[in-house]
Order: sequence, then structure tokens, then C-alpha cells
Amino acid sequence: MSGSSAVSDMTNGKLASPSRYLLPSDKPESERLNLQNRVLKKAFGNVVFAPFTFSSDDAVLDVGAGTACWTLDCHDAFRTAHYYGIDITSDLFPILDVDLKSRIHLTEGNILRLQGEWADRSYTLVNQRLLIAALSAENWKTAINNIYKVLAPGGWVQFVETNHCRSGDVTDRHHVILRHTFEKRGLLFECAEKIPALLHDAGFVEINSMIYEINLGSWAGQDGIEARDTFIGVYKAMKYPVVDVMGIMSSPDFDSLIEQMQKEWDSTPGSKIVFHVLYARKSASP
Ligand SMILES: C[S@@+](CC[C@H](N)C(=O)[O-])C[C@H]1O[C@@H](n2cnc3c(N)ncnc32)[C@H](O)[C@@H]1O
Repeated sequence: MSGSSAVSDMTNGKLASPSRYLLPSDKPESERLNLQNRVLKKAFGNVVFAPFTFSSDDAVLDVGAGTACWTLDCHDAFRTAHYYGIDITSDLFPILDVDLKSRIHLTEGNILRLQGEWADRSYTLVNQRLLIAALSAENWKTAINNIYKVLAPGGWVQFVETNHCRSGDVTDRHHVILRHTFEKRGLLFECAEKIPALLHDAGFVEINSMIYEINLGSWAGQDGIEARDTFIGVYKAMKYPVVDVMGIMSSPDFDSLIEQMQKEWDSTPGSKIVFHVLYARKSASP
């Protein structure tokens, strides 16, 4: 399969609707995702949040793996486990050497469709980070139920999501447009707030959620500049759907809003992006 725009959105084998995914799967997005991963790793200080001890038998699944940056970091930290990454497109997957390929298996796969070898395995940890721009409310239910099905009893799932930045008036204006874009596309903008209830409904226990705030803008030094660049980058990457597909704004208005927001972050100490980290467990007993 090549390119997420051609991918269909399936619900366990049934064609539901065309893919809603808002972001590209190209070289600039690959570089942006790797920078974003460095920013998140530094801010979180951790790749695994669940109170989980790795063993050599563990199988770990990364859903929407992208450039597999999280998988590779997790593998660096816990080398004995076996890693599986799925994504609707393989366009962003890295080339792995023979040694890594023996422990890290990246394949095309859709979390909305339990199909393929990845779906026949049982995992002790599932990671799903930043699928907000891909899933509707119904899709989130399907994804969480499917994760429950592929988790071993006692296994853990973790999610990382964000949907808002705090700065000034321009950022607030952008937030309104972003919410409108997501809603028009049928995406669940408030997924971070809804995940705990969805986890509960799917049967998960020990549901935890934490908030991390990351400084944005040059006032926060090099870390703030890197965070600014990756998150301004994600909003810029939404230009094609926002301007050309959905016609929400004109091209000059879009460019001007993003440019003003970047200036606002640089000149407003306290500008932040808010992240939600959530994790939960599948009960050990049926
Ligand atoms: C914003 S990227 C995040 C990538 C990675 N999780 C990270 O944090 O760096 C979202 C990824 O999810 C993938 N994706 C979108 N819908 C998906 C689905 N239904 N099943 C699996 N992957 C999906 C996209 O192709 C993209 O690579």
C-alpha cells in the first residue's frame, strides 16, 4: 500500500468510510516525527509509563508506528523483548539492519481491522501515540476493543495524545479552527478526555492518566525552539486538507495564522502544549 491518502478506513473487515487521516506520509513528515519523538522523550523522561517489567518472552505492539521512533527507543531501553509495529502505510518505516530485523517487525496493518499476522499474536504491552488525526469516535471504540483482544491477560496499553496549546489570542483562534477541522473530518478532537471512559467500557482496569506540559517558543531556549518547530510543523502539514480539501481557509490566511502563532509562542513566556498520557491494564483473570 503506498501513501495514507489511498487507504480505506476499515472496521474489522467492513469498509466504513474513506481514510480520515489528516497528515502526510512523506520525508518532511518523517523528519518531523523523529524530532517530535526527541522532544517527547526529553519532556516525559520515559518511553514506558505503565508499571511494567520486561522479560524476554514479551511481545510489544506499536500501533501507528510511523517512523518506528518509539519502537526503536523502547527496544534500546529493553532489548530482550520482541517488537511489532503496524501502520496503514509503510512509507515512513526505517530500514532496519539484519540484527534489528530479528527483533523488530514492522508491517502494514490497520488497528481498525484485526487482520494479518500481527493480529494473531498476543502482546504484553501495546503503545499507541498520536492517532488523534486518524480516528473518529466510533474508530476509537473499535481500536480500543481490538487492542483489548490482542493483549495478553494482565497486559498493559498506553496512549499519548494532545489537543491543545496555551499561549495567546492567535493560538486560541487557531484552536477553534483546528477543532472545526477535526469535527468536519469526523475525527474525535477530544479523544484524550474520552479515552478513560472508552478503556473502562472495553473492560480495562487500573486506568491512569497524567498531564505533561511542554514549553513552546524561543523564550524557553533550545528545547522550546525544537518543540515549537515540531508542533508548528504538524499544523503546517495540515494545510492541504484544511485549505484544498475542506476549504476551511484560504492559503494566505492559513500561512499567516501559522506564522503569527509561531511569533506568539516565541514572544509569550509560558506558552505550552498539553499532553495526556494514559495507561491501563487488561485484567489478569478472565
Ligand atoms: C502522527 S503519526 C504518529 C506516529 C508515531 N506513533 C509517533 O508517535 O511518532 C500517526 C501514524 O498513525 C498511522 N495511522 C493512521 N491511522 C491508522 C490506523 N487506523 N491504524 C494504524 N496506523 C494508523 C499514520 O499512518 C501515521 O504514521
